[in-house]
Amino acid sequence: VTTGAQQCMDLACKVLCNEGDTVITESPSFIGSLNCFRSYNVNLVGVEMEEDGMDIAKLESAIRSNKNVRFIYTIPNFQNPTGITMSLAKREAVYALAKKYGVLILEDNPYGDLRFRGESIPAVKSLDKDGLVIYAGSFSKILSTGMRVGYLVAPAELMGKLVVAKQCTDVHTSMLPQLMCLRFLTECDIGAHLESIKGIYAHKCLLMLAEMDARFPKSVRYTRPDGGIFLWATMPDGIDSNEFATRLVRERKVCVVPGTAFLIDPEAPSSAFRLNFSGSGDEQIVQGITHTAALLHEVCPG
Ligand SMILES: Cc1ncc(COP(=O)(O)O)c(C=O)c1O
Repeated sequence: VTTGAQQCMDLACKVLCNEGDTVITESPSFIGSLNCFRSYNVNLVGVEMEEDGMDIAKLESAIRSNKNVRFIYTIPNFQNPTGITMSLAKREAVYALAKKYGVLILEDNPYGDLRFRGESIPAVKSLDKDGLVIYAGSFSKILSTGMRVGYLVAPAELMGKLVVAKQCTDVHTSMLPQLMCLRFLTECDIGAHLESIKGIYAHKCLLMLAEMDARFPKSVRYTRPDGGIFLWATMPDGIDSNEFATRLVRERKVCVVPGTAFLIDPEAPSSAFRLNFSGSGDEQIVQGITHTAALLHEVCPG
């Protein structure tokens, strides 16, 4: 049991990485994990995302061309920030590459229980016959972020070191939130709870997408997630997402996260931005998309 899934990223680095070692991540990826990896002074290498997960040829080339690759970091389900889900074929391919080159995988799956359409896809950890996958889970996205309860499943040879690393950090995760989790899991109907929140998120996601379909300029592309809480919109090349997000919040009081926050090189340009559909009510979603679309029509050519 860990203090949120965030602690799994920290413990993995603490146990596996020396300064200058390489960590490969999807690009874009979750800012909290990127910042954690940065804090260990690792060589952070991003592999471009396609519609069904990382570009496998580029992943292999990244493994071959960088020194001391310690692990591949992936968020396979409804990725933060893109909402993309990695296909089974790619999960198998990533695992095969990890095995071929003797590299570990850190599978971060806090959104996996939030699939609201389509068939669920086995975790990379479920393919792990060789002790290569560290799996990070969390109660943050299904119960409460503030409780800070997550968990880690790791090969036996690594577990002893991970436990000692955790003892150095916080001895153990506080008992009260653990007991609250336990009570919820044993005395409440977690299945019914998941069905209920998935129904709510499906409705909000579909509403947001319908509004985007109706109002966004055709030159703006966006993902259609099967679960989770985020989707990712890409404006035409050359439009600066930082400038766009700043104008959107100042002029229209709508908040999106500019794509640069999720890049390996935060100075690199990005024309994409992340939208969250779980946190707002129906009326706010309609208003938010109406305002976002109006500014998009101002800044996007054609
Ligand atoms: C992909 C991903 N991993 C980990 C976390 C952190 O989760 P936790 O609250 O369990 O530490 C988040 C939170 O946003 C996330 O999006």
